[in-house]
Amino acid sequence: MAFENILCEVADGIATVTVNRPDKLNALNKATILELDQCFSSLADNTTARVVVLRGAGEKAFVAGADINELANMTAAEAESLATRGQRLMNRIENLGKPVVAAVGGFALGGGCELAMACSFRYAADNARLGLPETGLGLIPGFGGTQRLSRLVGRGRALELVLTGGMISATEAVEIGLVNKVFSQEDLMPAVLKIAAGLAGKSALTLRLALQAVNEGLNMNQDSGCRLEAALFGVCGSSEDAREGCDAFLAKRKPGFKDR
Ligand code: COA
Repeated sequence: MAFENILCEVADGIATVTVNRPDKLNALNKATILELDQCFSSLADNTTARVVVLRGAGEKAFVAGADINELANMTAAEAESLATRGQRLMNRIENLGKPVVAAVGGFALGGGCELAMACSFRYAADNARLGLPETGLGLIPGFGGTQRLSRLVGRGRALELVLTGGMISATEAVEIGLVNKVFSQEDLMPAVLKIAAGLAGKSALTLRLALQAVNEGLNMNQDSGCRLEAALFGVCGSSEDAREGCDAFLAKRKPGFKDR
């Protein structure tokens, strides 16, 4: 699929999606949000893409936020519609049914931080700067940031970041649980691709069920979440891949999963 603002390549089971507006620090204008939405929609059905890596073009930014040119002079209806479109993209990424790994180099601000938070997990380069600076613009985060940040790092830290609009370093982001691990700038993509290759070698069925258990479970109380987990364990426990995985372990060989 050809896009103007993003790149999408699939190789060896890994789809690499790059937000490609480096001159604007990869800011998310409406067209870019739409292209990302179309791209992730097609990746959901693309069985050759077993895992997705999301990154920004250039060394300076992952994504420096929603495009501020489009934020001035909005009516209430326009602003709500923008938030709805952004949230639809973030929800699509979160519920893709396959792992999406964010490779965060440079600025991940506002909508960029929200985009990274919608991913399954995040790795960052040592030059990363993360934050939700919307209050400085007279706005609040609108692409799910107020909800995902508090779930990732807790209410106090989320409120500190949302209210002050301050930026934190990659190391600070690891300390609060916003980012999983920091790499040097040159090591980030090789490390992320190595982890993605490991995920691509697993059963896509197993990963889908694990994502569903964690993501849907977070919207439930613990008892309901455990009932969901048992039901999903029933699905994967009786799968061909579970038989293959356990047989392979006992026979001391590598498993060959078939995603069923
Ligand atoms: N929307 C639109 N354009 C943006 C942008 C955004 N969110 N972030 C950066 N840009 C553009 C700049 O306007 C500039 O364009 P120009 O060269 O045509 O003037 C270009 O990207 C480079 O950014 P610049 O500000 O010159 O880089 P810097 O290194 O001095 O500062 C930042 C980097 C990230 C601190 C600064 O760009 C910034 O604060 N961006 C906005 C962050 C933000 O508030 N995001 C949340 C939006 S809801």
